[in-house]
Amino acid sequence: MCGIIGFTGKKEAQDILLDGLAKLEYRGYDSAGIAFFKDNGGHISIRKTAGKVNDLRAICDDDNSSTCGIGHTRWATHGGVSNLNAHPHKVGKVTLIHNGIIENYHEIIEKYELQSSLKSETDTEVAAALFDKMFDGDPIETIKKTVPLFKGSFGFCIMFKDNPGKIYCVRNVSPMVATHTEEGTFVASDLTAFITFSRRYFIVPEFTILTMEDNGFTLQDLKGNPVEPEYLEVNWDVTAAEKEGYPHYMIKEIHEQPRAINRTISPRIKDSLPFFEDDNIPDSFFEDCSDITIIACGTAMYAGMVGKTFIQNKLGIPVNVAIASEFRYERPVITDKSMVIVVSQSGETIDTLEALRLAKKYTQKTLSVVNVKGSSIARESNYVLYTHAGPEIAVASTKAYTVQVASMYLLGCKLGLVTNRLSVEDAKEFINNLTKVPEMIKTVLTQEDKVAELTKRMTNATNAFFIGRGLDYTLSMEGSLKLKEISYIHAEAYAAGELKHGTIALISDGVPVIAIATQDHVYSKVISNIREVKARGAYVTLISKDEVITDKTICDVHIHIPPVADEFTIFESVVILQMIAYYTSTGRGVNPDQPRNLAKSVTVE
Ligand code: F6R
Repeated sequence: MCGIIGFTGKKEAQDILLDGLAKLEYRGYDSAGIAFFKDNGGHISIRKTAGKVNDLRAICDDDNSSTCGIGHTRWATHGGVSNLNAHPHKVGKVTLIHNGIIENYHEIIEKYELQSSLKSETDTEVAAALFDKMFDGDPIETIKKTVPLFKGSFGFCIMFKDNPGKIYCVRNVSPMVATHTEEGTFVASDLTAFITFSRRYFIVPEFTILTMEDNGFTLQDLKGNPVEPEYLEVNWDVTAAEKEGYPHYMIKEIHEQPRAINRTISPRIKDSLPFFEDDNIPDSFFEDCSDITIIACGTAMYAGMVGKTFIQNKLGIPVNVAIASEFRYERPVITDKSMVIVVSQSGETIDTLEALRLAKKYTQKTLSVVNVKGSSIARESNYVLYTHAGPEIAVASTKAYTVQVASMYLLGCKLGLVTNRLSVEDAKEFINNLTKVPEMIKTVLTQEDKVAELTKRMTNATNAFFIGRGLDYTLSMEGSLKLKEISYIHAEAYAAGELKHGTIALISDGVPVIAIATQDHVYSKVISNIREVKARGAYVTLISKDEVITDKTICDVHIHIPPVADEFTIFESVVILQMIAYYTSTGRGVNPDQPRNLAKSVTVE
């Protein structure tokens, strides 16, 4: 939530900040702003506006020679979307940008009598006012004594008047990475903002002050002890974070799935069996496991549902899937024999991170499935299995979901082998099927034009239903979430057999129902359920392995997916559902990469 960037160096800062903000826009796009040392002197100028980075660009000066500045793109939490609430915020000698939430801002206003300094409704301006109040002429000493007064999450980039060329940064929970190159020193919420300049970066440790200057930086803890940065390097390059000719990131990322899955599974397969030695996950992790809890949010949680259905059915081990924001405030029913799998693309989702921290009080068998290297969840779990989807920029998750499911399959297979619930022959057959998934997806992608065409009818819908049984039910949830978040059509997912217990009352003439019937053991049951909605006027789009279906009492439109073993149809069907959501969104004139009210990385509760 919220993108932050700072640069000080030898080049003009404005374009670096604006281009970086455009790459961070997926983190929030309600409003945007930049601040810089005017003419490289001690005075600070601000440009900010409600709207997107392009709106900000339009109000920036063409000839800004400043080489030091900070920039922000906002996802509103405290205070509506307005010019006044946009960052940066300036109070007295302090100008700052903030990612996170200051939970005790009301108390701070009262205790330090800050009300008269405030013009906006934001918690961030309160932080700026407090830093200003505590300012004693020495930025570092000011930060040391102010930071412990905040409760909540924060990533601050601060410029102090009369300290030209310097940016001070500090964080708690909210992500922040930095680097230094020949051009200067960079800081941002994530690497995509400065990947054009460097693939090497370090994570700014929590409660550590980063002092950025044009010719270098220092890191020190709040007691003044020097801290050494731990450099990381990404294994993707700048083109991975660009659209490469596609109209939107989302459709590009849908097409990237075969490669993403390949990159994720290949290094973990040896002699047709799962292999996690390079990930430092020992076999002992899988031994003696009484039950599994999978914790995640949103799409990652739906990937967890696939994992649950697969592991429970194949291995007979009880699996519970928990919504992270619920889990963290309930009594966890886990023991030291329970395995906890935490799934997160960003690795920074605050509810998932806090749920992990809670789970670790009960078990040390925690493993995270995470896409972003070095992220908080990856660092704090006992073991991590990185997915290699590359950067996922579109707000709606696509390739991250399929690599998460593929990872669940690898983990489940290993668990089956280690606990003797799966024979080596069966495991080999399973893994061989998994390696065919990338090619299967390529075949499905050839149906893109057909899906785009038949989706035209969806653009006028106000409601839609997704139904299926077993794995297809878990997939229905993901399909429905994808449609609603980027097309704003109300959509519900139902276990096909459950509809007649109430929801079927909502089915009337022309209501779109997307039915998925790819699981052989319940195929005929789903077809019966489809007939029930069809008989009540639903407009049914059916995804199945059938070559053709001409019976109009079953469906109006049929989408064929190539026949594969039941566990693997999910990879084919989800691509169809992603394309349905994408083309419905664009057909309704919505930008699928930046749907309203959403942001990619949810670092607030
Ligand atoms: C939906 C979507 C979200 C995320 C959720 C968790 O398309 O992307 O539901 O899956 O916010 O995010 P991560 O995986 O970063 O923890």
